[in-house]
Amino acid sequence: MIKSNCETVEHASRLSDPSASPSPASRNPEVPSYMHEVYDWAYVNPAWVRWLDHNAVVKTLLFGNDRRLMRRYLARIRPGMKVWQVAHVYGDLVRLAAERTGEHGRFQLTDITPIQIAHGKRKIGHLPWANVSREDAALHKPCDNTAYDLICSFFLLHEVPDDWKRRIVDNMLQQIPEHGEVLFVDYHRPSRWQPVRYILEWVNRRLEPFADALWQHEISPFASKPDQFEWKKETIFGGVYQIVSVRKKLV
Ligand SMILES: C[S@@+](CC[C@H](N)C(=O)[O-])C[C@H]1O[C@@H](n2cnc3c(N)ncnc32)[C@H](O)[C@@H]1O
Repeated sequence: MIKSNCETVEHASRLSDPSASPSPASRNPEVPSYMHEVYDWAYVNPAWVRWLDHNAVVKTLLFGNDRRLMRRYLARIRPGMKVWQVAHVYGDLVRLAAERTGEHGRFQLTDITPIQIAHGKRKIGHLPWANVSREDAALHKPCDNTAYDLICSFFLLHEVPDDWKRRIVDNMLQQIPEHGEVLFVDYHRPSRWQPVRYILEWVNRRLEPFADALWQHEISPFASKPDQFEWKKETIFGGVYQIVSVRKKLV
């Protein structure tokens, strides 16, 4: 099956040339300081993670827009696609996305935190075409040189410092072939009439220090070569959320 092929290719390349491992720098990375300093309770501490990894929590955090936002991603996945989801998401999104790729496709989930990898494996580890690995989204490369059809960051960018945003965006864009698509689903600057804006202003001040950058800037300036790509943005819920689709410009 695809997962073991991938593991075989990686194993074989290491045997013939120890330096040829496809993404050595990305494997077993240190958990970054921003995770401990800002998000320990949310994503690192297993006691909290057990309570948070539920659909009801995601629905509450996204003001009831969870299914609407998930559909933007899931509707793009067709059976047989090769999909990389750059970080774990609480609730059933990871399972639904992996199931949609199906046995002729491939689903790669990466995350940087051990407990999130354990939760990801519990959800999709039984699917032969799914692979879950602890890697930095800024460094991951596909293990068998197969290009991804779809790469999705679902609410990761607002949780990382700006230099990490740049490296993650660049790495995602580097992996797309001409037919492929990168999708960012994340926060955005809400309209003034949207009451949720004032709740999120408070949340960002207290809990989400890296989210304000997505209120101040489009995602494209975080890419080092934005002009090489077509950027299409949709916003929903009074501008609270953005869905940004990126494709290579055809020359
Ligand atoms: C996808 S985001 C937020 C998703 C959303 N709030 C939810 O309901 O889960 C959170 C995940 O990003 C992971 N993460 C943070 N920095 C990362 C990085 N550099 N590479 C890969 N994963 C990362 C965290 O470990 C965490 O599991």
